[in-house]
Amino acid sequence: MSQAPTPQQAQRLTIASIARLYAAGQRIPMLTAYDYPTARILDEAGIPMLLVGDSLGQVMLGYDSTVRVTMAEMLHHTKAVVRGARRALVIADMPFLSYGVTPEASLENAGILMSEGGAGAVKLEGGERSARTIETIVRAGIPVMGHIGLTPQSIHQLGGHRVQGKTREAGRRLLSDALAVQQAGAFAVVLELVPEQLATAITERLHIPTIGIGAGAGCSGEVQVITDLLGMSAEFTPKHARHYAELHSIIKSAAEAYQADVIARTFPGPEQSTRMDDATLDEILGRTALDRPEMVETSRGIPLDRDL
Ligand code: KIV
Repeated sequence: MSQAPTPQQAQRLTIASIARLYAAGQRIPMLTAYDYPTARILDEAGIPMLLVGDSLGQVMLGYDSTVRVTMAEMLHHTKAVVRGARRALVIADMPFLSYGVTPEASLENAGILMSEGGAGAVKLEGGERSARTIETIVRAGIPVMGHIGLTPQSIHQLGGHRVQGKTREAGRRLLSDALAVQQAGAFAVVLELVPEQLATAITERLHIPTIGIGAGAGCSGEVQVITDLLGMSAEFTPKHARHYAELHSIIKSAAEAYQADVIARTFPGPEQSTRMDDATLDEILGRTALDRPEMVETSRGIPLDRDL
């Protein structure tokens, strides 16, 4: 007998909800999220898709590339985001070499992100080269988002963060990558660092949503790394990102103000403290008649006032 969905389950967006937004011609915003509190806020804001990107390697864990990110790390962060987001479709990135080696391992790892992690879909990189893998995972009932153009897990092969598809050959390859991903059954595809006109042309030729990052305004949707959007780094913002807040300076000023208050003994103040009944304190510290030396059997080594 099938059970009625809980209100939480009933509200959760699915790839069918995303397909409806796409069919209605509505642009689809997506943001990365890596932790519970951020996922809650982005969900409250109504962002329909949250990507637990393997960019977490750089922006949360301090690695130099996404290649270092493991399944265990992806799983840990996916669980936190799923707990934080009640409505958004949560998509978990498949980390480097967790797919594409054997179909069995690809399927097993995608399954872990769904069944243990609670994700609603997975994302993996690669066009034609990943088509068979996408097909295998989709056939098992797991929604897959593709990712072509600049694919950070192949950064050592690509030789740096460069815009992709700028020559006749490279542009055609990108076009056939997009078609291969769609053909394999992906419900959407990320286009990263692709010239605006080419991204628009790809979008026009597909019947699944394209989600751009550094791919201009012609895609069906847009994804950004949340820490770029919030201005968390003082040093570097990619060209494709815009700061919607300046959290680096806000957090730094808050930490400096806190530090100054602690040193000046103005924090915590009375509002942040709790007081107790003074008579009880006297009893605890042995200030009452009961604890006069001649009355006392033992203080069990506790330093009462008379022992100081
Ligand atoms: O890992 C990530 O954050 C991504 C986005 C940049 C699309 O893959």
